[in-house]
Amino acid sequence: MSFPSSLRYLCAAVALCAGASLWAGEVEVLHYWTSGGEAKSVAELKGMMALRGHSWKDFTVTGGGGQNAMAVLKQRVLAGNAPAAANIKGPAIQEWAELNVLTSLDAMASFERWDEVLPKVVADQMKYKGRYVAVPVNVHRVNWLWANSAVLKKAGVASLPKTYDEFFAAADKIKAAGFVPVAHGGQDWQDFTVFETVVLGVGGAAFYDKALVKLDRAALASDEMRKSLEVFRRIKAYTDDKSPGRDWNVTTEMVINGKAGFQFMGDWAKGEFLAVGQTPGKDFTCSAAPGTEKAYTFNVDSFAMFQLKSWEAQKAQGYLAYLLMGKDFQEKFNLRKGSIPVRLNMPMDKFDECAKTSSKDFVTTSASGTLVPSVAHGMALSSSQQASMRSAVSEFWNNDKLTVNETLSKLLAVSAPKQK
Ligand code: GAL
Repeated sequence: MSFPSSLRYLCAAVALCAGASLWAGEVEVLHYWTSGGEAKSVAELKGMMALRGHSWKDFTVTGGGGQNAMAVLKQRVLAGNAPAAANIKGPAIQEWAELNVLTSLDAMASFERWDEVLPKVVADQMKYKGRYVAVPVNVHRVNWLWANSAVLKKAGVASLPKTYDEFFAAADKIKAAGFVPVAHGGQDWQDFTVFETVVLGVGGAAFYDKALVKLDRAALASDEMRKSLEVFRRIKAYTDDKSPGRDWNVTTEMVINGKAGFQFMGDWAKGEFLAVGQTPGKDFTCSAAPGTEKAYTFNVDSFAMFQLKSWEAQKAQGYLAYLLMGKDFQEKFNLRKGSIPVRLNMPMDKFDECAKTSSKDFVTTSASGTLVPSVAHGMALSSSQQASMRSAVSEFWNNDKLTVNETLSKLLAVSAPKQK
């Protein structure tokens, strides 16, 4: 890690030094935020950088969930041409830090008291060997069920489903009324997003933690896991035949436009509803997915900062890190992104009902021990374990001939101790 540059960050950030233009530089940022709502969120950030004279260079790799972006990032870093910052999350931050390509943000973190303004569960993920190497920007909740209010009304669904029995009863009504009950994009990360939400709803947070986070073998082979796979498979019958390969935001559009009733997705989906002027509680609803009201799967977007050679680029990078943790950015960005600020004690009055619920539930589930990391969104497992789980679950979703038992064995194999 390059510690001298850490001091430069601090200098650049708090503007101890000189006027804006003298301090301006270019910052190249890898991200995959290309949907309508996401692009509006990034525009806030670009605008704030520009106010200080820094120029922003997009390094955009399309593909929801960021898998494509991570593959391209690897090639760039291996070629010795890292961007200034990249949207990297969870244990992957540690994997990159271990390669000694990230820069330390400790001087700024201690000056700006990041330890005091971040939830500990988040701060810990941003650190490598106790030092900050990444900056968090938000908290997304993953275990949501989105619904089109008019579709539910036309189908005669009076209340949002709290159990899977209620969910399937509602889905039947929506189908009978001529709509697609469940909008789903058949890509492996979207399959896993639905799957982990079902596991949480069927088995509860403690089970989710044992099975998907700790990869406990008894939990992975249990009846709860069997039941989760069965419920997951049952959902497929309520999706449309154009689902395979469809992007998540195109899928959300089906709910926005009243073609479909429900979508299981994290609250970046809300960014899409908001971007086209829809209002929560009126045009659409957000509710915890069946059985998950008292639990919360979190997904924190964060930017890891890479070691850079040029002094100008380091200055712009330092300012970016400073900006990302600031109250102004955290509010403006998250109002568009669908997430909530990761900074503690931020006023929530400008946020909508979904965000207020998310903020309240983040605190209560954290206290009750039912706040769990999203596996689908890279918050819990190593990249390779995550990839194996993802492919087992997607194969099960796509191939009706694969049995629950076969899939349970594949999941168990992920937890097997490595052969030496
Ligand atoms: C998540 C990411 C969100 C959003 C979504 C769709 O993994 O945390 O910020 O971008 O994927 O790409």
